[in-house]
Amino acid sequence: MQTGLFITATDTDTGKTFITGAIAAAIKARGITVGVVKPVASGGTADSSGRLVSADATFLMLAAGMGEARRQQVNPVCLAPALTPAVAAVESGVTIDVAQLIGISRAMLACSAVTLIEGVGGITAPLWQDYLVADMMLALGLPGLLVTRPGLGTINHTVLTAKYASQRGIQLAGIIINRWPEERVTVRERSNLEYIERLTGLPVLGKFPAVPGVISDQTAMARLAVLAEKHLPIDHFIKLMTGGGCSADGNTAR
Ligand SMILES: Nc1ncnc2c1ncn2[C@@H]1O[C@H](COP(=O)(O)OP(=O)(O)OP(=O)(O)O)[C@@H](O)[C@H]1O
Ligand SMILES: [Mg+2]
Repeated sequence: MQTGLFITATDTDTGKTFITGAIAAAIKARGITVGVVKPVASGGTADSSGRLVSADATFLMLAAGMGEARRQQVNPVCLAPALTPAVAAVESGVTIDVAQLIGISRAMLACSAVTLIEGVGGITAPLWQDYLVADMMLALGLPGLLVTRPGLGTINHTVLTAKYASQRGIQLAGIIINRWPEERVTVRERSNLEYIERLTGLPVLGKFPAVPGVISDQTAMARLAVLAEKHLPIDHFIKLMTGGGCSADGNTAR
């Protein structure tokens, strides 16, 4: 049974981590064990002990209530160069074992009621040699969520991503438009949304606002969970992942 969602986007910096974290925080706040995975991260930075860490993994772990001890399960590969993973790995003298990435993801899927897996960049970002994010999505067989921008250029990026996914046989459950300017929506955003739905045939499942401030502690993350409940169809996501039911067995930080 599918118990996860794979979050991809039209581009890097579109909001995969932010949206994945928001969904994870909302699910955790319901008392459901949520796993998070960032299989490969680039642009990692050294922590106080010199270990490379991914800010994406840190954010996702905070959202899911996972302690530092689980970092390796969440993010098995963290590379320093801010390059596409396949290139960052070669530059770092690292070999990426794709089977290991799949294995880590499956392990998280097996030990959590639901699991959210964040991709890297967009759907055709190379993870290792010619193995793309899309190949990993196919291997895991999870429904995908596509995070997009609201502004100019988004129709093209979103339609191309959706068509590529469809061509590859990847099932996208829908689209989340991130940084939706609810109070200042103009014909630009409204028409973008309409075109995106019509040309992709996919539903826009959520329009998420830009949230002010930094989210780096449990209090701010709890506020993000409330916003996720307001702006995103959390029930629908849980149903997508569990086929209707989900055990509410709590989540413990280790
Ligand atoms: N709705 C939002 N409100 C406020 N800040 C946001 C929002 N969405 C994203 N951001 C911020 O924008 C930046 C890029 O977002 P994010 O890291 O989620 O993108 P990404 O798609 O995960 O990028 P990458 O490809 O590097 O993984 C981050 O600093 C994030 O905190
Ligand atoms: Mg990210």
